[in-house]
Amino acid sequence: MTPIDAKRPLQLNDQGQLRHFLTLDGLSRELLTELLDTADSFLEVGARAVKKVPLLRGKTVCNVFFENSTRTRTTFELAAQRLSADVITLNVSTSSTSKGETLFDTLRNLEAMAADMFVVRHADSGAAHFIAEHVCPDVAIINGGDGRHAHPTQGMLDMLTIRRHKGDFEKLSVAIVGDILHSRVARSNMLALKTLGCPDIRVIAPKTLLPIGLEQQYGVRVFTDANEGLKDVDVVIMLRLQRERMQGGLLPSEGEFFRLYGLTTQRLALAKPDALVMHPGPINRGVEIESAVADGPQSVILNQVTYGIAVRMAVLSMTMSGQSAQRQLKQDSEEHN
Ligand code: CP
Repeated sequence: MTPIDAKRPLQLNDQGQLRHFLTLDGLSRELLTELLDTADSFLEVGARAVKKVPLLRGKTVCNVFFENSTRTRTTFELAAQRLSADVITLNVSTSSTSKGETLFDTLRNLEAMAADMFVVRHADSGAAHFIAEHVCPDVAIINGGDGRHAHPTQGMLDMLTIRRHKGDFEKLSVAIVGDILHSRVARSNMLALKTLGCPDIRVIAPKTLLPIGLEQQYGVRVFTDANEGLKDVDVVIMLRLQRERMQGGLLPSEGEFFRLYGLTTQRLALAKPDALVMHPGPINRGVEIESAVADGPQSVILNQVTYGIAVRMAVLSMTMSGQSAQRQLKQDSEEHN
């Protein structure tokens, strides 16, 4: 797989607009804010009797998920449908990938069907970058989660959730708790919070589930004691244990993890009284979060899913207009020459 150099302007066109959406690394505060504002306006579309706008009429969006998904895949489908695009979802387990076809060849074949955008989820970090580098220039690639590297649309729907419930990022303390080591959501959230000006980002995990150098790379504070780390925070983002990405025994047991890090009613009381409880899903009740908390009055876990449709509509429409602007510029310059 291609090494990821997130600073490359691969995902931006010559005017600084999105033409792919691969990572939040290197995206400006202005662009993230524009994305959140656009998503806010799409929330209203979801509340209408006819939940459709014609922005992507005539375009084809292809969902290619090489890893399981409930929320990301279905909300991308809904987002594309609400923008009036044609949507195809490739079921990889029943596709020719299971007969040995490479990722590259699968994508080339889908490209030949004139898809305009691919939403890709893959177990390998860097898969979305690799595809963006190799598809034809008129096709946009959206990262639906790659290995432990990035889940940029989850990061932005988490930011929309925080902004709608708490307002200004510049006054907030946000704690991210759990399996940070294997989490693409944690990485995307740390980048987004830092870019949007959150002054106190806390990361809480056992030593075995913490990557090295987090403080320097993301400007966060690291805690191995959950009770200390949760004190007076405004937002708690819980993460599940990502067993599918773990090699070897990093934890004594799930019971021990819950005892030390699980979000219980008692532990949540250490945060501010109106602290938000968030989780990207899927949740594992009794492992990282108690049912009473997941279903309790401070939980916005299901709001996150609803906001996810609006954020994905914003990403699809902004990426498509970035692609069109790039195409127009190329056409103008060819005509001029
Ligand atoms: N949050 C998230 O990515 O969920 P899915 O794996 O169900 O898409």
